[in-house]
This record gives sequence, C-alpha cells and structure tokens, in this order.
Amino acid sequence: MSIAHGFRTIGVLGAGQMGLGIAYVASLRAKVPVYLVDKSPVQIQKSLSLMDKLLAKDVSKGKLSEQEAKDARQRITVVPEEQGIEGLKDVDLVVEVSNLNYAGYKLTEGGQAATENVNLKTSLFESLAAAVRPDTILATNTSSISITKMAAAAIPKGETAASPKGKASAARVVGLHFFNPVPVMKLVELIPALQTSQETLDRARAFAVACGKEVTVSKDVPGFISNALLMPFINEAIMCLEKGIGTRDDIDKTLKLGMNHPMGPLQLADFIGLDTCLSIQQVLYQGTSDSKYRPSVLLERMVDAGWLGKKSGKGFYDYEE
Ligand code: 3HC
Repeated sequence: MSIAHGFRTIGVLGAGQMGLGIAYVASLRAKVPVYLVDKSPVQIQKSLSLMDKLLAKDVSKGKLSEQEAKDARQRITVVPEEQGIEGLKDVDLVVEVSNLNYAGYKLTEGGQAATENVNLKTSLFESLAAAVRPDTILATNTSSISITKMAAAAIPKGETAASPKGKASAARVVGLHFFNPVPVMKLVELIPALQTSQETLDRARAFAVACGKEVTVSKDVPGFISNALLMPFINEAIMCLEKGIGTRDDIDKTLKLGMNHPMGPLQLADFIGLDTCLSIQQVLYQGTSDSKYRPSVLLERMVDAGWLGKKSGKGFYDYEE
C-alpha cells in the first residue's frame, strides 16, 4: 500500500474515458485501492476491458511485470449498481468525473444549456458530500465549471457557509483536472475554490504526484488555464473551416507540421468530443460574456446532428465503429 499521499482508499465517480484513466493511474502508480462507481454496467465493463488491454500492452512491452499488472487490476473494485455513491462512504478521497452520463443523464443532449449542466453537477455534489465521511476530500475533474460553486454545494443542509461544519465541508473540495488520455498526459491542473483549505490542496497535489503527474495551479476562473487557452484555439480552427480559409486537412496539417502539435485542432476536438468542447465553450462564454469565447455555429450544428467526434463515429473525421 502506498501511503505517501495519505489516502488509504479512493473512489472514482464516473467510469467513462477520464474516470477509467484516473482509476488506472491511481491503482497502478499511486498503488491505492479504487472504488469505481457508474450507473451504467455496460460502461463499467467497457472500462474494465480497456484497463485489461492497457495493462496487457504494458506487460508485453516490458514496462510492467505480470504481478504488477495483476496487483493494479485487483486494486479496482466495482461498486454494485444498487449502492451507487453510497458505496463510497468509507473512502478518503473521491474524484468526481461524471462529465457525460453519470446517473443516466446526458448532460449536453438536445442542446441543453451549460447552466443546466452546472445545476446537475452541483446537485450531484450535494448528494456526494452527504454520502461520504465529513473528512473525505472531494475532488472534481470538471473541465470548466466553478469549483467554488461545487464547494458551496457541499455544505450540508442546515449549515451555512460561515458555520464550522459548513466551512469544513466546503474546505475539502478542490478541482483536480486530468487530461485525456490520462495514462499518457503528464499534467494535472489543481484548482482551489475560494473555500479550499491548504491541507486539501496539499493532499490533492500529493495524490496527483503519486499518480505520476506534474501539477500546475490555476485560479477558479471559467476554463481554468487549460481550457481558457485551448477552447478559443479549437473554436478558431472550426471557424477557419466554416469560413473556407482552409480545408480540414490543411488546417490540421498546418498545426501538426508547422507547430509540432501531436494532433491538429480539428482532430483534437473530435478526440475530446464535440459536445464536450461545446459545453466548455458555453461555460466560458456565459461565465465571461466575452465574445472571443462564443462557440462557432458549425460546432453547434455538428452537435445538433449528433456528430460528436471519435466517440460517436463521426465528427470532423469519420471513425470506424
Ligand atoms: N489510453 C491510454 N494510452 C493511450 C491512449 C489511450 N486512450 N491513446 C494512446 N495511448 C498510448 C499508446 O498506447 C502509446 O503507448 P506506448 O508508448 O506505451 O506504446 C502512446 O500513448 C502513444 O500512442 P500512439 O503511438 O498510438 O499514438 P500517438 O503517438 O499519436 O499518441 C496521443 C496519441 C497521446 C493521444 C497524442 O496524439 C496526443 O498527445 N494528442 C493530444 C492529446 C491532448 O491534447 N490531450 C488533451 C486534451 S484536452 C483535455 O483532456 C482537457 C479537457 O478538459 C478537455
């Protein structure tokens, strides 16, 4: 058991691509037992088989021994569907990663506004804070939603932002923003809410480092450092395509070969998910009222069409199912 970060067990809420990645690095690198929660058994199965594949690949490349892979896999426990978040009541840290479909919600379906996503997220945080121990650290992997708002949602009913129990509950909330693909990307962005305590920040940082990541700190502003910079870049590339300034391939090739980006911006948008890009851009635009963040019409229409990028088989590129 690795104790450097002080967490004996953690929970990961949401077993999509990001949740699985976080569970993977936590179990393999931080060597901490992970309880994985998702309302969709299909999603859990998909994630576990991806984890098996990743571990097998690393074993075949000699990066891991068979025993290390086996131990990492055994540190993952799936919380039974009927328990849901109640299954996390004894963990020391929860990383909430329920960006798209926890509890069966499709947060961006039907062009639902980003503000509604915020409401759904905060209500989930409210239930989560009530389900776990009062000293459990609550980290969220949200890409853009206010951590301060989520910390306020963690205040128990009957308490206030100024009462000792209310303050303590909000102080344990922090933003822990991983990047996709989590096993590969070296960064975690750490975002303190206004209410976050220094102890929470230090412990969250120690966890990210134990997962093998470098850490940067961003203020709690819409999009933090990463998406406040990345999303206008992606949006400009989409507008470049919309205006016919360049073809899809030339836009991506320009950035790949001219600036050494591993993926062009349109390919990257597909990789992140066009619905996710749109939802983050809506949060940025609504949170700042700055027109530089206004999502392009083409992006909105592609999401309307259900062309969500790699995960749906079609985005700016076509993907085999
Ligand atoms: N999960 C785990 N490992 C993966 C993976 C995945 N989904 N995809 C690729 N890898 C691993 C491969 O197994 C391989 O590992 P190996 O070296 O042990 O064999 C390694 O990554 C390289 O993969 P490939 O050779 O297949 O492909 P590339 O060299 O083209 O790399 C890439 C793929 C790492 C995805 C690279 O294209 C890249 O870095 N792209 C940019 C990704 C990026 O910008 N991510 C951030 C998105 S923004 C975000 O997440 C924030 C959110 O808030 C929006």
